[in-house]
Amino acid sequence: MTGQKWESGTTGGSRAWFDRAQGSLAGGVSSSARLTSTGPHPYPLYIASGSGTRIRDVDGNEYLDYLMSYGSVILGHADPELTAALTAVLETGAMFGTCNTAEVELAELIREMVPCAELVRFANSGSEAIQGAVRAARGYTGRSKILKFEGHYHGWSDTLAVSNRPGPAEIGPYGAPRSVPHSPGIPAGVVDDVVVCPWNDPEALRTLLDVHRGDLAAVICEPVVANNACTMPDPGFLPLLREECTARGILLVFDEVCTGFRTGPGGAQTLFGVVPDLAVFSKALGGGLPIAAFAGRRHVMEPVARGEVKHGGTYNASPLCATAALVTLRRLNRPGVTRHIEAAGLRLMETIRRAAHDRRIPCAVQGVGAMFQAVFTPDGAPTRHYRELLRADQARYHAFRHELLKREIHANAFALACWFVPAAITADDLDLTCEAVTEAFKAL
Ligand SMILES: Cc1ncc(COP(=O)(O)O)c(C=O)c1O
Repeated sequence: MTGQKWESGTTGGSRAWFDRAQGSLAGGVSSSARLTSTGPHPYPLYIASGSGTRIRDVDGNEYLDYLMSYGSVILGHADPELTAALTAVLETGAMFGTCNTAEVELAELIREMVPCAELVRFANSGSEAIQGAVRAARGYTGRSKILKFEGHYHGWSDTLAVSNRPGPAEIGPYGAPRSVPHSPGIPAGVVDDVVVCPWNDPEALRTLLDVHRGDLAAVICEPVVANNACTMPDPGFLPLLREECTARGILLVFDEVCTGFRTGPGGAQTLFGVVPDLAVFSKALGGGLPIAAFAGRRHVMEPVARGEVKHGGTYNASPLCATAALVTLRRLNRPGVTRHIEAAGLRLMETIRRAAHDRRIPCAVQGVGAMFQAVFTPDGAPTRHYRELLRADQARYHAFRHELLKREIHANAFALACWFVPAAITADDLDLTCEAVTEAFKAL
């Protein structure tokens, strides 16, 4: 640990690339999220290479990575087995726009691993697969409204980009939140079809389900709210969600883009023992290549299977991406792999908790081992819903994250997002990180 890598002199290459990028890339970036990917700092890091748990920037600085491409690179960077498999595919043709054998084997494996997955369709990104699941739910039920939870994120496309991060001025009353478009450019008609509910509140849920009964096609949630700093479901809340949807003939959709294949081979639905009607996967599914899936109960997917409910995509399940997913899922399905990820994360969570406690800094460390976040709530209690996150000290998270970066630990820059632990993590990595966490808290 050299201690002072993130200073303007040592990251001058990244600064120069960002200056240059402004001339051709809109805002200098390829995703709005990357505009602030270094938190409060003025330019992002340009990463040139990665191996295992490490990434290296264009100035040659090396970091231990807990962003892991937002959880996608679950095996670790440039995993040798995955690289060899993909190299072989590249040598024989990456895509043909036709059916291929890897997609069949992959769908069969997902059926084995995921309880709700009786039929599967592939797409290229989480946002696209969310669109597929919403289309399937609307097509099956003949209804158009979707209930989502305040603060949950389901991708950037219009369909559900509503009340992702509403500000206090626009948010409306707690029990009946306003549906707030995430961006200019989202039509009012789309927003009107999204009902927003507070998370972990059975009474508000029942009320809204009853008010919109007959219009709701589905309820969708992030079962562990990765995009709300890993806010957990209250014990019993997911089973209740299942019961209330079943009682009213409304479909339940789990957005497992972050939890899928990460919180265990069967994702959150296995972890919590609650089986949705439809689920959406991406990120860990592809091990770093762009592939996503929506999958569900046979009767719900039948209209898609018959071609009545349309779903398409030139790049869907190309041999390259289907092979990446197949190799990744086979590894994650091996005994002990997700358990190793979970155990490593639990040690990190405990270290952060202890460091905060020792410095008398209120801090909730929430989530599961495989994905978690440190949240500087006023009293150190875990958050239960989005509005509690608005009261957390995000500036303190940024300071913590900056202190870690100086110590060569690269964590998510967003206070409301989370750390992702890769399978490649070693005991040495954990020792280094725990030492850096302890030192970072001393510097806060
Ligand atoms: C829970 C969740 N759903 C959907 C998405 C959208 O996925 P993508 O960015 O691949 O479109 C994300 C992305 O971060 C996500 O975290």
